[in-house]
Amino acid sequence: MNLPHVQIITFGCQMNVCDSERMAEILQAAGYTVSLGGEDDAVGSADVLIVNTCSVRAKAEQKALSLIGTYAKQENPPLIVMAGCMAQVHQRELLGKVTAVSHFVGPNDYYRLPELLGGSLKGRKVWTNEPQCGEAHDFIPAACSHTGPSAFVTVMKGCDNFCAYCVVPYARGPERSRPAQDIYDEVKRLTEQGVQEVSLLGQNVNSYKGSGSVATFADLLRYVAEVPGLKRLRFMTSHPKDLSADIVKAIADVPNICKALHLPVQAGSNKVLKAMGRGYTREHYLDLLQMIRSYVPDIALTTDILVGFPGESESDFLETASLVELADYTDLFVFAYSPRPHTKAAELVDDVPQKEKVARLTKIVEIQNIHSQKHMEKLLGKELKVLVEGPSKSDKSLITGRTEGNKLVHFSADVKPGSLVTVKITAIGTHSLRGELCHG
Ligand code: 5AD
Ligand code: SF4
Repeated sequence: MNLPHVQIITFGCQMNVCDSERMAEILQAAGYTVSLGGEDDAVGSADVLIVNTCSVRAKAEQKALSLIGTYAKQENPPLIVMAGCMAQVHQRELLGKVTAVSHFVGPNDYYRLPELLGGSLKGRKVWTNEPQCGEAHDFIPAACSHTGPSAFVTVMKGCDNFCAYCVVPYARGPERSRPAQDIYDEVKRLTEQGVQEVSLLGQNVNSYKGSGSVATFADLLRYVAEVPGLKRLRFMTSHPKDLSADIVKAIADVPNICKALHLPVQAGSNKVLKAMGRGYTREHYLDLLQMIRSYVPDIALTTDILVGFPGESESDFLETASLVELADYTDLFVFAYSPRPHTKAAELVDDVPQKEKVARLTKIVEIQNIHSQKHMEKLLGKELKVLVEGPSKSDKSLITGRTEGNKLVHFSADVKPGSLVTVKITAIGTHSLRGELCHG
């Protein structure tokens, strides 16, 4: 008997991308054929559709529901499974409303997918257990079948911060750290399988809690960076209130830790930061950036900005805009606030009109574009190490790779994915660079 073809479509953050890979590996090990894709890759040929959803913003939820609607209208619709944060957060209300979904599986129950699709769990629609600290299946290691030059490795899950706007603590549960030895062993195995670059993932990696000689995240970085053959080590996401000088010193000292840091600030006004419950001030954050740059002058600093939080006045917003000017990020992501269920901010009046949110978002993008462009110009003529990913998506005659600062570079060469090559930067685009391979 042929086992069904499973298609997994992923919305949201890197944690979801990583979870989808783990789901695919679990199902492949059980004999299923699995294809993985993002929202743009959706095609309607599978027997089973798993939609790995994101609840961080209302828009991501609407997109997932509309995708499910499209599949459900097909002549022979697939069996539809909703996975991820929406399944965890909304399963009760969606159960009666979105009847096209056969099963809801939260982020803590992916290990059950083979049983569920095999039919032995047919009677039950909802699999959304609360995470139990220390459960073996909480951190599913990457499979031996992992291919490609880069891999994600989860080091911690959940979040205890409860920022006023954020649904993550309700979707992903309390913070729990994975034992350092397990992390090391997984990175070592991946490196032996040909992986060159590992990104350590967690909602707030800076508050990693280990034990013994690997007690902190700084210890963990130094420990994992020692895995023989590992060329690049990245990590995300960092919280400004928990970023220690020790972490920054590790970035500065250890050659294979990428000189790049994503440090979401969210807002530049102390009033808004306080209302968000972020646990730091504008001044503390700017001092932090100074400290970071004193250790790692050329670090690629990126951030997240949230505009239109309830009560954000024009002058609060101007403080965010001025912080973006001062911080001189290499890149940023900016989002318009949308109220999320369970959160403290959902009880506040969402009083910044949508039009104003969009205007503020556009203003931040305009400011940042100038800084991004300036940072890219500094790279012109430089010879940079680039990790090759594969053929360029826009021009198949070129290949694409990433710099240590996470910039995409397109160039012409006959080199395999996973090669670490030196490329001279010859031109800059809006979001990517062009270059020439350096020989010798
Ligand atoms: N509305 C809009 N953006 C949000 N984010 C988190 N919660 C919300 C929300 N309710 C943004 C934050 C976070 C990023 C991952 O998503 O900027 O850092
Ligand atoms: Fe959400 Fe704040 Fe936790 Fe980040 S630190 S996941 S923004 S609650």
